[in-house]
Amino acid sequence: MDTLYEPLIETAPMARELSRRHCLHGTDGVDPCDWYHGVWQYLRLFSMVASPDRHAEFFHRTLTAAVTENPKLRLMISGTADYAMLAHVVRAANSIVGEPEITVLDRCQTPLSLCSWYAERVGIDIETVARDILSYRSMKKFGVICTHSFLPQFPPDTRKKILARWSDLLVPGGQLITNVSIRQVSTKEPVGIANADTDRFCELIRQAAIYMPSVTADIDDLMAQARAYCTNRTSYSFQSEDEVVTLFEDSGYSIVELSSVEIGGAQDISGPGISRSSRYLELVATYNND
Ligand SMILES: C[S@@+](CC[C@H](N)C(=O)[O-])C[C@H]1O[C@@H](n2cnc3c(N)ncnc32)[C@H](O)[C@@H]1O
Repeated sequence: MDTLYEPLIETAPMARELSRRHCLHGTDGVDPCDWYHGVWQYLRLFSMVASPDRHAEFFHRTLTAAVTENPKLRLMISGTADYAMLAHVVRAANSIVGEPEITVLDRCQTPLSLCSWYAERVGIDIETVARDILSYRSMKKFGVICTHSFLPQFPPDTRKKILARWSDLLVPGGQLITNVSIRQVSTKEPVGIANADTDRFCELIRQAAIYMPSVTADIDDLMAQARAYCTNRTSYSFQSEDEVVTLFEDSGYSIVELSSVEIGGAQDISGPGISRSSRYLELVATYNND
């Protein structure tokens, strides 16, 4: 199977259920994610949000090259809203009959359970780690760490700490494969989704749910979740290519591939994470920690 297998219609209700059980609710000063993981796959089904498939060619090419070089590669997915990044890894591995040893790390059990379900469905073993990457330490080192749009979730100082954690988890010369969005707005404060855009977003969700009856969901619950998603969703986009290059180089990485791509969007709504026209950097960086 070297096509991308993402059975969203089957798993969106599952993600909602898992989220009720596992997501963090914001107690004890921990950032909540119950507004996010339960609705994310519905939002993907309705083409409302940006996920790794917007960078399918990049992930396929770079992951295939990495697995070709080392078919038993140890690979970590560092943060994932569902099994999407895993699906791209599996697709790359299958296209060259590689068998990478895959670890998926996320601070929440919901996406990890989705990944475990996906792994079983496609017949592979994976390790899941329910930890915050900022405090994660391991003797196990990885040839590749990959993740989709992870860094823009964090303010600049935290990004440096994440790059330091990743460098500690990479073998000498190991690769980081990722993408970031570039937006020419201030990154000092997080950017959210404006009220007018939230209203439009929710209306589009309502229409999509009605026009796609095969997508089973309680519409009131879905609308409430879509609104909570818009209220909570923020990002600290990078402002320029220079900012990205400086961050990586100052953190000891060498950038081996950097492409600036304009990706067209399904939506004309503004806001972080929405499937709209945006500029991204797709990048591969290595860390030489010997
Ligand atoms: C890969 S990122 C971005 C994915 C998606 N494309 C988006 O734009 O929302 C989302 C994932 O990062 C996880 N995450 C956020 N902060 C984290 C942290 N400090 N450690 C581990 N996982 C984290 C969240 O739980 C979430 O599942």
